[in-house]
Amino acid sequence: MMKEDLITLKKFYLQAVAQIPADSFFHESINHKFCHSVAVWQTGRKIMTQTPELADIDAEFKTLAERALLFHDVGRFHEAVCRYRAMQQKISVSAASNKYDHGFIGYDLLKDLPPYNDLRILLAIKYHGKMMEEVRASELWQQAEQSPLGNDAGKILYLVRDADKLANLEVIKTQNHLQHDIFFKLLSDEARHAPISAVVWQQFLARQTIIFTDLHSFADRILMVLSWIFDLNYQYTKKAFISDGYARFLLNELAKYHPNNNDLDRITLLISSIFIK
Ligand SMILES: [Fe+2]
Repeated sequence: MMKEDLITLKKFYLQAVAQIPADSFFHESINHKFCHSVAVWQTGRKIMTQTPELADIDAEFKTLAERALLFHDVGRFHEAVCRYRAMQQKISVSAASNKYDHGFIGYDLLKDLPPYNDLRILLAIKYHGKMMEEVRASELWQQAEQSPLGNDAGKILYLVRDADKLANLEVIKTQNHLQHDIFFKLLSDEARHAPISAVVWQQFLARQTIIFTDLHSFADRILMVLSWIFDLNYQYTKKAFISDGYARFLLNELAKYHPNNNDLDRITLLISSIFIK
C-alpha cells in the first residue's frame, strides 16, 4: 500500500469527524472504523501470505487488494454523519436499517476516483457486507463474470470479506466489542436478555449467515457472529476462527444469554461440520 492511500482514507475520515461533536457516540464510532480499516488491511495482508489459494498472486493484485482492504468501509464515515444528523432531527433509523448503506456510499465515493475506479476494488467495496446471493444477482458481479478481471475481482472480494470478519472477531474477543457497538446500545433491556429468536435459530440450523435485519436479542447478535463461519472463503480464515479462540469466546458469551446446553452443543457441532468434507 502506498502512503497516498492512507492519506486519502484519512481525508474522508477527517471530513466526517469534523461534522460530529467529540462527545457523540458517532464520533467514537468513526474513530473505531478508522482503526478497523487499518486492522482489516493488516489482516488481509496476513491472509494473502498464508493462503495457498492466493500463492500465485502478483504485485498488481497485491496493490489492488490492499486498496480494497483499506477502503472497504470508507462509506462508514459518511454513514455516521447521516445517522448523527437523523438523530439530531429526531428521525428514527434502526441500527439494522439499510437506509444508509456504507457499501453503496463507498462505491459512489470511489467510482470516479483514480486509482480506485477499478472493478477489482469496486466490487469488494460495494458488496463486502452483503449476502452472497445478493452479490451474485448484482449487475457488478455479472459484469465481473464477463470480464477478464472477474477472477481477480472475486478473489479480492472474498479476501476483504474474510479479513473484515477476522479483524472484527479479534476486537470482539479482546475488547468485548459486541457490548460497545450501536446494536447493543439501541437494544431494550428486555431484548438484551432474551434468548435466541426462532427465525435466527432456523437460519443457523440451515447453515446460513444470519441476516442482520432479523436480529431481535443480544443472543441473536452473538449467534450471528458465530454464523460467519458459514461465510468464510479461505481455509486459513476458517481454521483461524477456531484456533484463535473466537468460536470458544462466542460460545461462552452465548451461554450467558441462552443457557441451553442442547442448543449450545448443536451449535458446536454445526461449526465443526465446516471442516468435515
Ligand atoms: Fe469492515
